[in-house]
Amino acid sequence: MVPMTIPSVALNNGVLIPQLGFGTYKLPPTETKDLVLRAFEAGYRHVDTAQMYRNEREVGQAVAASGLPRSEVFVTTKLNNAFHAHDDALAAFDRSLEELGLDVVDLFLIHWPLPAVGLYPQAWAALEEIYASGRARAIGVSNFQPAHLERILETGSVVPAVNQIEVHPYLRQDEVRAFNTTHGIVTEAWSPLGRGTVLADPVIAVIASRHGVTPAQVVLRWHLQRGDVVFPKSATPARIAENADLFGFALDDGDLAAIDALHRDERTGSHPDTENRTGR
Ligand SMILES: NC(=O)c1ccc[n+]([C@@H]2O[C@H](COP(=O)([O-])OP(=O)(O)OC[C@H]3O[C@@H](n4cnc5c(N)ncnc54)[C@H](OP(=O)(O)O)[C@@H]3O)[C@@H](O)[C@H]2O)c1
Repeated sequence: MVPMTIPSVALNNGVLIPQLGFGTYKLPPTETKDLVLRAFEAGYRHVDTAQMYRNEREVGQAVAASGLPRSEVFVTTKLNNAFHAHDDALAAFDRSLEELGLDVVDLFLIHWPLPAVGLYPQAWAALEEIYASGRARAIGVSNFQPAHLERILETGSVVPAVNQIEVHPYLRQDEVRAFNTTHGIVTEAWSPLGRGTVLADPVIAVIASRHGVTPAQVVLRWHLQRGDVVFPKSATPARIAENADLFGFALDDGDLAAIDALHRDERTGSHPDTENRTGR
């Protein structure tokens, strides 16, 4: 059991988000409830899901079965790409609450901007209404480039609380992270382990061996010390525990600089400027 030392980050409306959460993309559906419960046992109090992951129901079942007070668990979900039109977004959010079995989500995000579709300002207006109704404690975006955020800042009235983007040692995302910081938007780093691709890097292996920890722990610690929110995914119980055991060591400035130097602008997922699929 990990001591309850997971720090929180304050969002721009004062809501606190645990800096470490549990990612649920591609968890096997039949195992999702049990794996989320494992994560709670290991000390996680934040779960990241999405309409697109088709596992909101199982995530909600785990929240209910955990016996944890609702106020101690932070749940994020995201709007499916098919539902950017205003009324579709409102209806999709209602379905999320039903699937999760919750009255309120902690954070609701637009999953992708889909710039060629061009409806994300409408979707944002719907999220603002949901926020005003109190059924989402915070609202934000995911995979938004500065140009997409600029448009929301111009047309909307609520500043997104977070921008969830792909970040790992091979994709530092300096420009988007700086834009987020300038506007008081918290950066959430998705695929924090680069879906495993960064874990065999020899630079990370050397740092891990010096600290007596694993490569995954080094990479997650790098994210935390940069101030980003992370939610590594694992379907392996030992790794779920390993990925939460991050608070007994710290990287020094040399370690952080060596990991920063690994950047090679390499994505594991789609580029937000060209991802426009609505059928997922
Ligand atoms: N907003 C978006 O567009 C977006 C996109 C992608 C992801 N996300 C969110 O971000 C979360 C995390 O990203 P991700 O799932 O893509 O990738 P990730 O967390 O970077 O990596 C997951 C992969 O790493 C392996 N792994 C996990 N812990 C490990 C460890 N300690 N040692 C060795 N291997 C380990 C996992 O294997 P096993 O499972 O086999 O253990 C899995 O193959 C997602 O689950 C989702 O919640 C959001």
